Amino acid sequence: MNDLSEVLYTSDELARRVGEVAAQIDADYEGREVLLVGVLNGAVMVMSDLQRAMKSHVQMDWMAVSSYGSGTQSSGVVRILKDLSMDLEGRHVIVVEDIIDTGLTLSYLMSNLASRKPASLEIMTMFRKPEAARMDVAVKYVGFEIPSQFVVGYGLDYAGRYRNLRDLGILAPHIYA
Ligand code: XMP
Ligand code: MG
Repeated sequence: MNDLSEVLYTSDELARRVGEVAAQIDADYEGREVLLVGVLNGAVMVMSDLQRAMKSHVQMDWMAVSSYGSGTQSSGVVRILKDLSMDLEGRHVIVVEDIIDTGLTLSYLMSNLASRKPASLEIMTMFRKPEAARMDVAVKYVGFEIPSQFVVGYGLDYAGRYRNLRDLGILAPHIYA
């Protein structure tokens, strides 16, 4: 697709890495049931691949927050559009994110979720940009560190489009210029 200026990771590379992270989570949580909390809509692909690659018992729930609107700049304003259905108290929770850019969205989410008294609370993100190094929240599982460019595919969108691309790529600047 020529809306991408570059493919960063092919679907095979993404699947292999998700498998590695799933094995790491299985080992870390041996004998415990994990609740994966996916952040809609971006985490849809990684959530479905991650849990199918896991061997442990796993449950899932979803939250929707808004931080970006349809542009490419983080606004810092986070709204909960859809809250969880499950009670987190006493559960081993892993928040599953598509991407961490500034970390503003996640910082807000983590303090919100921590107040619900989970037994443990960690983060898995498929992609992380360099900006996130300034974040105060520790991220236990990271798929890939990527450059500070706007990427799409594997659940990530631009104005709602491109989530269905199997590869992760850099969106060609002429698309949003
Ligand atoms: P912050 O800056 O709060 O942003 O960590 C996190 C959310 O912003 C979106 N985001 C992106 N979406 N390509 C996208 O499609 C990108 O390169 C990108 N960078 C940030 C994403 O929704 C993420 O949850
Ligand atoms: Mg998103």
